[in-house]
Amino acid sequence: MAEEPAPISFARGAPSLDIIDVEGLKAAADRAFTNDPAGSFAYGTSVGYKPLRAWIAERHGVAEEQVLVTNGSMQADAFLFDTLVQPGDTVVVERPSYDRTLLSLKGRDADLQAVPLAEDGVDVEAMAALLAGGTKVSLAHLIPNFQNPAGYSLSGQKRRALVALAREYEFTIFEDDPYVELRFSGERQPTMLSLSTTGEVVYASSFSKTVCPGIRVGYLVGPAEVIATIAKLATGTYISPNMVAQSIVNEFVRGGSFDTSIATVKTALAERAERLCAGLREHIPDAQFVEPEGGYFLWVTLPENVDGDALFAAAAERGVQIVKGSDFLLDDAKNAIRLAYSGVTPAQIDEGVRRLAEAYRSL
Ligand SMILES: Cc1ncc(COP(=O)(O)O)c(C=O)c1O
Repeated sequence: MAEEPAPISFARGAPSLDIIDVEGLKAAADRAFTNDPAGSFAYGTSVGYKPLRAWIAERHGVAEEQVLVTNGSMQADAFLFDTLVQPGDTVVVERPSYDRTLLSLKGRDADLQAVPLAEDGVDVEAMAALLAGGTKVSLAHLIPNFQNPAGYSLSGQKRRALVALAREYEFTIFEDDPYVELRFSGERQPTMLSLSTTGEVVYASSFSKTVCPGIRVGYLVGPAEVIATIAKLATGTYISPNMVAQSIVNEFVRGGSFDTSIATVKTALAERAERLCAGLREHIPDAQFVEPEGGYFLWVTLPENVDGDALFAAAAERGVQIVKGSDFLLDDAKNAIRLAYSGVTPAQIDEGVRRLAEAYRSL
């Protein structure tokens, strides 16, 4: 019997183990348990582990009352949607957008309006036209840096225009920003949170991509009243988030491991992204994509007659996991796929692209 090829996953938006600072985490855990056993091992309050909350507040230049630290940013998203989205509310999402967000909003019976995403971010003119046409938007979910799934980032000019639109039409921007630290080329833009002066932005980020996803620590920053409302909801949900995890992250970020860990991750991601793009250019010349400046993902558009769902199946038969582009869309387009290069080594990328090209030719 022929041996099955070793599986290669371009599907998971998660880092490979070799770029996680295991030693730094061990040392941070040791310091957390030695320096603050009472704070680490007791129930805390729903706002999160206070020293970490203070560190996040300082980093974003906001008051501590504006920060809530959660079990991963997915939990932050869920709290925010429960607070701000009622059934039937119109919520703007990017096209394409993160599949879990789409599912979460659909599950809350939101009326989703997908606005096209360009290489420099969401189509602001289309959004302005929607608003000017009388659609009452309550929330806009935007992933400003190295968007999941497209890998694109929002330009500075568009960030300013969006904050102005939110102010004029009185909707909340949900700035979902877990990849912000992972820029390996190009210029960093200010957060919409920092550009907003009248509380129209609620910001979320995470330590999943800079420390490790298993630690499940993320956070929200927003107007103090919104955060206070969410804190009540969080108390009723879990009393407090995971204090052990948050005290470890606190030591990790304050002890100097954070910057080293980000540098390690960025160096690896830059190499992997380059390798993936080069491999695709060589083996699947039909594939269209924008070379990423950071983050985890490459959005690959194929000729219109190519069925990405069929490619998904053909790749799986060859031991390669990808995600169908259709998972990130609300319409019927199928000619795209998402490739994550975060969890694969350069050697796996070469082999994975070779197999993907074979799958592509088989269609
Ligand atoms: C855009 C976006 N938001 C939120 C998350 C969830 O992150 P966390 O691990 O902090 O829950 C992800 C994870 O892939 C993501 O891509």
